[in-house]
Amino acid sequence: MTASVISAGPIPRSGSAAQGAIELRQVSKNYGDVIAVDQLDLTVRPGEFVTLLGPSGSGKTTTMMMVAGFEEHTAGSVLIDGTPVDSLPPRERNLGVVFQNYALFPHMSALENVEFALRMRKVPRAERRQRAADALDRVGLGKMGGRKPRQLSGGQQQRVALARALVFNPAALLLDEPMAALDKRLREQMQEEIKALQKSLGISVLFVTHDQDEAMAMSDRIVVMRDGKIIQSGPPEEVYNHPLTDWVASFLGDTNLIPCTIVERNGEEAVVDLGGLGLARVRDRGADGVNYAVSIRPEHLKFSTQAAAGNGCAATLLSSTNLGATVRHRLTAGGHELQLRELSSARGAGSGPDEDLWVGWDEDRAQLLVLES
Ligand SMILES: Nc1ncnc2c1ncn2[C@@H]1O[C@H](COP(=O)(O)OP(=O)(O)OP(=O)(O)O)[C@@H](O)[C@H]1O
Ligand SMILES: [Mg+2]
Repeated sequence: MTASVISAGPIPRSGSAAQGAIELRQVSKNYGDVIAVDQLDLTVRPGEFVTLLGPSGSGKTTTMMMVAGFEEHTAGSVLIDGTPVDSLPPRERNLGVVFQNYALFPHMSALENVEFALRMRKVPRAERRQRAADALDRVGLGKMGGRKPRQLSGGQQQRVALARALVFNPAALLLDEPMAALDKRLREQMQEEIKALQKSLGISVLFVTHDQDEAMAMSDRIVVMRDGKIIQSGPPEEVYNHPLTDWVASFLGDTNLIPCTIVERNGEEAVVDLGGLGLARVRDRGADGVNYAVSIRPEHLKFSTQAAAGNGCAATLLSSTNLGATVRHRLTAGGHELQLRELSSARGAGSGPDEDLWVGWDEDRAQLLVLES
């Protein structure tokens, strides 16, 4: 664990106790002919970290802007802690907001930038100085309050924006790709810090990213969006391991998609015919469609011996690529081309060219899904 720069000390509370439940009911946004957000139903529970994940143009920012009150929705209703806020201006919604372009005032110092949020809320001068200083302290910038944004690094500017969003004790935080401008290392550090801060404050967060690793690392729940709609929503492991469609499976990382026909469905399980790979028992989330496939992540395929192979069959190795920590093998089995990933340290079957090679998987790693494309 790296030491967290962001401390967990208390921020003085003002106003009523923060709850931070956010609810969107059938919210839509049209820009002329473009339906940016399409009848969205979404709930963020108090203290929950929910991430909107989706490709460019899927409506993530538009959704955030409507919750924040910077965009008016075409239909539906937004509620915060059970109260409709549709007619409230942004400042009265009690939400801390950090957008990708976090727009600090260049002529103000870091401290003044943070204080500004309180000035807008008419907090008395002496109190706001103290609270702004505390907020900067909390994000590890206690000694840099006097610097102008141009005298701060990208990561430090990002922290100022975060302090500014937190200083008035909002009920919830809206973070739209807040780390997009940071390099990978700093980004990972900030991910941990934001998560720690969120936990210590017990604040709810609606977060936007199109980086699936970031979504996996930070979220209690991932909401996958596409074309203004929610395609799937659930805890990260569930969405990753049990995607409902091939699009979700592929969007969240590499996977093997094996077309299949359904032989039998009973509740959470199905028996499918995988063609050359034979019959297999797989997980079933009940997704309905016309064409089906089974998704197995490359890291869930494994080399096995013929005797141990419950699900699986004989395979031929096509190539092996060392990626550092892992090795990616391409192979064919039962007429399907498959990818298998294992730790470089594993050096399992696959290592000798003349071996009898078998590939297998555990049945709870195979997910039946609908082929959209
Ligand atoms: N002011 C606007 N006028 C017209 N169309 C808009 C406007 N803002 C957004 N759109 C359109 O609405 C759709 C959703 O845009 P949005 O910015 O919400 O996507 P996003 O998911 O945030 O994408 P990104 O990952 O690129 O930030 C897009 O098709 C976009 O072109
Ligand atoms: Mg966006």
